[in-house]
Amino acid sequence: MQIERVVVIGAGTMGHGIAGQAALFGCQVALHDVDDARIAAGVDAIGKVWSKGVARGKVDAEAAEAARGRLRAAPDLRAAVADADLVVEAAPEDLELKQRLFAQVEAAAPEACILATNTSSLPITAIAAATKRPERVLGTHFFNPVAVMPLLELVRGEFTTDAVVDAAKAFGERLGKTCIVVHDHPGFATSRLGIALGNEAMRMFEEGVASAEDIDRAMVLGYRHPIGPLALTDLVGLDVRLAITEHLYREIGTDTFRPPRVLRRLVRAGKLGRKTGQGFYRYDD
Ligand code: CAA
Repeated sequence: MQIERVVVIGAGTMGHGIAGQAALFGCQVALHDVDDARIAAGVDAIGKVWSKGVARGKVDAEAAEAARGRLRAAPDLRAAVADADLVVEAAPEDLELKQRLFAQVEAAAPEACILATNTSSLPITAIAAATKRPERVLGTHFFNPVAVMPLLELVRGEFTTDAVVDAAKAFGERLGKTCIVVHDHPGFATSRLGIALGNEAMRMFEEGVASAEDIDRAMVLGYRHPIGPLALTDLVGLDVRLAITEHLYREIGTDTFRPPRVLRRLVRAGKLGRKTGQGFYRYDD
């Protein structure tokens, strides 16, 4: 089961990241979103990631040029998936939306197509239940920034076959990622641990244990994390983190996942992190 033709649904941070890497590593990629403007913004962002990669000496200029020819905008989802080997959905974290998309894709995609979701925490089996081929559905959870982060977390739903996991693993390795295979438990391996740390850091911030800078320094300098948990929350987006922890609190029920008050307060104020210029820190550029 060789993956050559890939459709990515959602041209936001994760979607364009995945589409860009797949095109760079030789796949034919179609990028879909709800309107032309969003697709164009995604294609533009991919170009910027490649240019930065070239400037940093990580991406070959000719390879980036060739990748441009393998990337196309796909405003018509049904047409785009008609000959796809793999569809990766990177839409917002809303179970009903994902189920609707999977049902639409299944109706137009070839029998052998693998249907993947980039969800950070929603149940793969519930998304797969919207299709008649749950054995071909799995989670392909990438990390932001996709061009740089070396992990791909593959999540097996209740019915996912070994052949589908193997094909997704080969695809991830082709994109330069190391894959881990995780069962379909809330938050998988990465989000469950990452949210636990992030929530505790936010509660410490609320209690005045230390400044945001010093809480982050504790983990960066004391534990060698590349970035502190509050700065990471700003990078991922406070709204995204709130949605994940609300879901984990419903599913797991322990206080670890109870959404911190400061997170709710900042989200209500529209302070969503880097993308809005303010979260736990301010971003003037
Ligand atoms: N293409 C290819 N390589 C690139 C690149 C590009 N566009 N841009 C940068 N790089 C390379 C750089 O050359 C550099 O490589 P070396 O280490 O070999 O020199 C490396 O990537 C780091 O780049 P920078 O030096 O520019 O950046 P940095 O040192 O400030 O690190 C970072 C940036 C990698 C984002 C770092 O801050 C980090 O690791 N942050 C944590 C990110 C993280 O935890 N992400 C996961 C979030 S959770 C998630 O995504 C999942 C979810 O479910 C929400």
